[in-house]
Amino acid sequence: MSGDAAANQFDVIIIGAGPGGYVAAIRAAQLGLKTACVESRGTLGGTCLNVGCIPSKALLQSSEAFSHVQHKIAEHGVRVSGVELDLPQMMKRKDEVVKGLTRGIEGLFRKNKITWLQGHGRFAGPAKAGIHQVAVDKADGSSTIHATKTVIIATGSEPVELKAIAPFDHKFVIDSTDALALDKVPGHLVVIGAGVIGLEMGSVWKRLGAKVTVIEAADRVLPPMDGAVSAAMHKILVKQGMEFLLGAKLTGAKPEGKSVRVDFEHEGAKKDLKADKVLVAVGRRPNTFKLGMEAIGLSLQPNGRVPVDGHFKTPVAGVYAIGDVIDGLMLAHKAEDEGIACAEIIAGKAGHVNYDAIPNVVYTWPEVASVGITEEQAKSKGLDYKTGQFPFAANGRAKAMGDTDGFVKIIADGKTDRLLGVHMVGPNASELIAEAAIAFEFAGSAEDLARSSHAHPTLAEAIKEAALGVDKRTIHM
Ligand code: NAI
Repeated sequence: MSGDAAANQFDVIIIGAGPGGYVAAIRAAQLGLKTACVESRGTLGGTCLNVGCIPSKALLQSSEAFSHVQHKIAEHGVRVSGVELDLPQMMKRKDEVVKGLTRGIEGLFRKNKITWLQGHGRFAGPAKAGIHQVAVDKADGSSTIHATKTVIIATGSEPVELKAIAPFDHKFVIDSTDALALDKVPGHLVVIGAGVIGLEMGSVWKRLGAKVTVIEAADRVLPPMDGAVSAAMHKILVKQGMEFLLGAKLTGAKPEGKSVRVDFEHEGAKKDLKADKVLVAVGRRPNTFKLGMEAIGLSLQPNGRVPVDGHFKTPVAGVYAIGDVIDGLMLAHKAEDEGIACAEIIAGKAGHVNYDAIPNVVYTWPEVASVGITEEQAKSKGLDYKTGQFPFAANGRAKAMGDTDGFVKIIADGKTDRLLGVHMVGPNASELIAEAAIAFEFAGSAEDLARSSHAHPTLAEAIKEAALGVDKRTIHM
């Protein structure tokens, strides 16, 4: 269909311009496919760029700077007085970071000759002679219909709402998007869920001066992470002043006058708290509504996700899906990798994603990062494994920085020494984990990490030392 095809006929239409969708669009266009991307938001980049990864990292960076100047800089012999928070400026900077990046994607679309179909995308009816019909509903009520050989569903996810007990009113009971744009620091912020969003946004507002209480149903923070990581982060965040109620069951959150009452069960008793805001961060659910999937006979899995095979193909010919709408971790970079692989498969190439080598990061301070399996998973699988661990307190660079909280933990196969899991809590762990992810990609061993030269003094030496620790030959401990 490419070449002399009519203007509204495409080789591939991608529904959703988040990290999965826009990256798939660029790769498809690079491979010579006539590509369009449907996006209803006024800007490209999806949740991640607009109301997720990027604005939260901007606020994490700014709030960490504020906290650093207040609490840490004095130990470096730098005296500062009269430190003040300028929240409107902090928010303005965050908005400018977002604007710059979303505009950048518009530029990439122009450069790659990708058509942005602005509006809500849906299947208009069953494919005719192998050609799908995608309707784009505009804000003014009008619709256009576009023909395409293939469609990629990349519609992402949205926050889970606890409708029965704590419905969002976006004023007192808020979601992660609201938490990125508060106009003043809440006196008391209660966070429901000690997962990634709970700890990241809880950290932002704690650093800016809020009292933060986290209510978590599980018996630990970051439940899916390695037990040593969960335990360390719990201790570190408590030291930073965050309060945790673990094993607590939320029973209600209701605005009362100018505050909100939070009811929950904890340690066998019914309890309540008064807060200024309640942030509900109990997970996200796939965005599969109003896509007209019934029109093409595509049914969801019982978990609400779109079924795909190992090549991102749904059971409907010509329809693919990637990112948060399919199984797996809801991570921007997982969606990007799938977007590239999916576009390559559509173009007749051999796209592939190695799910064993996808890093997972929590941008608290210190940061948390991991790749591979946890020690609990190694145990439950009955694997023969060995571990090595090295604390940042014994790392010269961390000492010089004054950031010694955390450690690197490596899990390797007991016989072959092949890496099974790398977990870390520490300064810049989000960057350090790339070394481990590459080692996973090359099916590396602990010995490979231990034998690789690491510049001195660097934080990365803690990885080398933990790798040496797998064979009990750490040097600096
Ligand atoms: P999450 O799945 O990370 O954490 C949710 C937490 O809420 C869990 O610890 C769970 O046990 C707890 N929970 C569930 N129901 C509860 C209840 N009724 N009462 C108390 N606790 C309850 O989900 P989160 O933090 O909302 O993040 C959503 C998604 O967004 C995740 O899949 C995450 O991977 C992704 N994300 C990733 C980021 C990153 O990579 N840095 C940043 C932000 C989000």
